[in-house]
Amino acid sequence: MSANARITALTPPDILARKGGDPLVCLTAYTTPLARLVDRHCDIVLVGDSVGMVLHGLPSTLGVSLDMMIMHGQAVRRGVERALLVVDMPFGSYEETPEQAFRNAARIMAETGCAAVKLEGGETMEKTIRFLTRHGIPVMAHIGLTPQAVNSFGGYKVQGRGGDAFHILRDAEAVADAGAFSVVLEKVPVTLADRITETVAIPTIGIGASRACDGQILVVDDMLGMFDAFKPKFVKRFAELGEAADAAIATYAQEVRSREFPSDAHVFTDGRKGKTE
Ligand code: KIV
Repeated sequence: MSANARITALTPPDILARKGGDPLVCLTAYTTPLARLVDRHCDIVLVGDSVGMVLHGLPSTLGVSLDMMIMHGQAVRRGVERALLVVDMPFGSYEETPEQAFRNAARIMAETGCAAVKLEGGETMEKTIRFLTRHGIPVMAHIGLTPQAVNSFGGYKVQGRGGDAFHILRDAEAVADAGAFSVVLEKVPVTLADRITETVAIPTIGIGASRACDGQILVVDDMLGMFDAFKPKFVKRFAELGEAADAAIATYAQEVRSREFPSDAHVFTDGRKGKTE
C-alpha cells in the first residue's frame, strides 16, 4: 500500500446494506485521539453537535455553529480510517430551505472530508433530505427526541408515547422514503422503536430506543464516564474515566505541593549531550 493510500472506509451504501444484519456500532467523537480509539471498534463515527455541551460547556446544542462542527469534523477526520464519518448539521444551518441545507452540507463535506451529514427532523425535513440525497449528499436522519427542538418539547422528554407514536412512525417512513441511508431514533418507547425497525427499509440507530434497533449510538464522553452535567437513563457508563482523571489530578496537585514531583526521573542532568532524553 502506498504511503498515501487510505484504508477503504465504510460508505453510506455499506451501512444501508447492514439493515437487519449484525448490529451497527456507533459512537460520537470530537477530537483526533478519541476518534482513533473509536474508529478501531465502530462502524460509524459521528461528530455530533453534542460537542457544544460536552466539550464547550454550552447549556444545549442550540449555540453550536457551523464553524465549530467543521473544526471538530476536521480533527476527527484525522483519526478515522475505516468507519463511516458523519457530521451533524447544527441548528439554523438547514431548516430554511433545501438550498440552504445543500450549501451548508456541501461546505461541511468539502472542508471535513466526511461522507455524510446528519440532520434532525422527520416529515418536516422530507423535502430537504430528498434534495440533499439527489444532489450527492448522503443523509442520516434523526427523529424522536431531537435535541435542537428541546424548547418546543419543553425538555428532553420521551417522544412517541400513546397517540404520538403514529407521528414518529410517519417521520421514520418519510425520511426513509426521502432517501436517508439510516435514521437515529432517540428516546422513544421500545415498542415504537421495534415497530419502526420492522417497518422501514433503512437501518435504525437507537439511543434510548430498543436493543432490536439495527444499531446503537452513544455520546462517547457519556459512556466513558467523562461527562456528568447531564445523565440520561439511556446512558450506560462502560468506564469511570472522569473519576480516574480526578484522582490523578488530585495526586499531581499533592505531589507538586509537597515537592515530590518532579523526581530525579523527570528532570535532566548536566553532561549527557547528544543523547535524546
Ligand atoms: O449530537 C449527538 O451526539 C447526537 C447523537 C447522540 C445521536 O445526535
